[in-house]
Amino acid sequence: MAHNSPIEIEAHAKVNLTLEVLGKRDDGYHDIVSIMQTIDLHDSVSLTPSDDITLACDDPELSGYDNLALVAARELREAAGVDRGVAITLGKRIPVSAGLGGGSSDAAAVLNGLNRLWELELDLAELEGIAAGIGSDVPFFMRGGTALVQGRGEHVVPLAHADIQWMVVVSPETDLAEKTARLFREIVPSDHTRGVLTHKLAGRIRGGGDAPAQFFFNVFEPYADKVFPGYSAIRETFRSLGAMGILMSGAGPSMFALAPSREVGVAWQLMLEMQHGLRAYLVQRWDPPGPARRSTMRARVNRDSVE
Ligand code: C5P
Repeated sequence: MAHNSPIEIEAHAKVNLTLEVLGKRDDGYHDIVSIMQTIDLHDSVSLTPSDDITLACDDPELSGYDNLALVAARELREAAGVDRGVAITLGKRIPVSAGLGGGSSDAAAVLNGLNRLWELELDLAELEGIAAGIGSDVPFFMRGGTALVQGRGEHVVPLAHADIQWMVVVSPETDLAEKTARLFREIVPSDHTRGVLTHKLAGRIRGGGDAPAQFFFNVFEPYADKVFPGYSAIRETFRSLGAMGILMSGAGPSMFALAPSREVGVAWQLMLEMQHGLRAYLVQRWDPPGPARRSTMRARVNRDSVE
């Protein structure tokens, strides 16, 4: 069926429940092991058929040629060998360059949406291959949910739903150029781990969704204060409200903590915003529609067959 009306997609943010670095690769990237989880905070992506590929964004600073949503459309047009265009409208709600994967999620939404709009019928594996060429976090966002992410980010194994619900995310402002690369450059061999913590947490999630914050980990956390001035003061403010197990997400500087209830989360969010002037969000885990466990079993079968 040809699409003439716009396709509207929610592009969700993520948090990293764990993020370990196994080592540096010859291609300059690092091998990571991470459990990522999408949350209900999202951007809005609208795709309308057009002759050219264009972008209108409510944040004018993000309307440039290098916006990952535009990159995604160009890469897909090239990979699929089609002569099609799209007018992309992007409503930003996810804070930019904050460790929540906003730009990567927008790119994934564009790939998924254009696959429909341009009637390409590419399967998930093909789309993930194109996604990996756009950015290391983009393959995860092709599906979202709870997933074990490995390699430089291109190996994504869906997990069962993690049994977590309310979280408060605090996103300090930053304008650090090449932030992710900058954080990875801080990593020294003594930071390298073997992914045991992540795999243990993945095992617990597979076995019933149990995801205690004691297993949460971020390899970049020790460098946060050096790279993001004021980070530890904000963390301390968050902690003083009673939040436990506060953890940075991705390459930061966003940090999050599980809230024991919606009510406590509302209180934290309001205090952080009103009393301390911080950008804070009360969010919930977000999972794509459809059965997570079947995907988990399929992923397991695939993995077992190559081991
Ligand atoms: O893939 P992406 O463009 O998001 O990566 C930005 C930078 O972060 C890379 O150029 C690289 O320096 C670093 N990186 C890394 N290992 C990864 C992902 C990113 O070293 N797994």
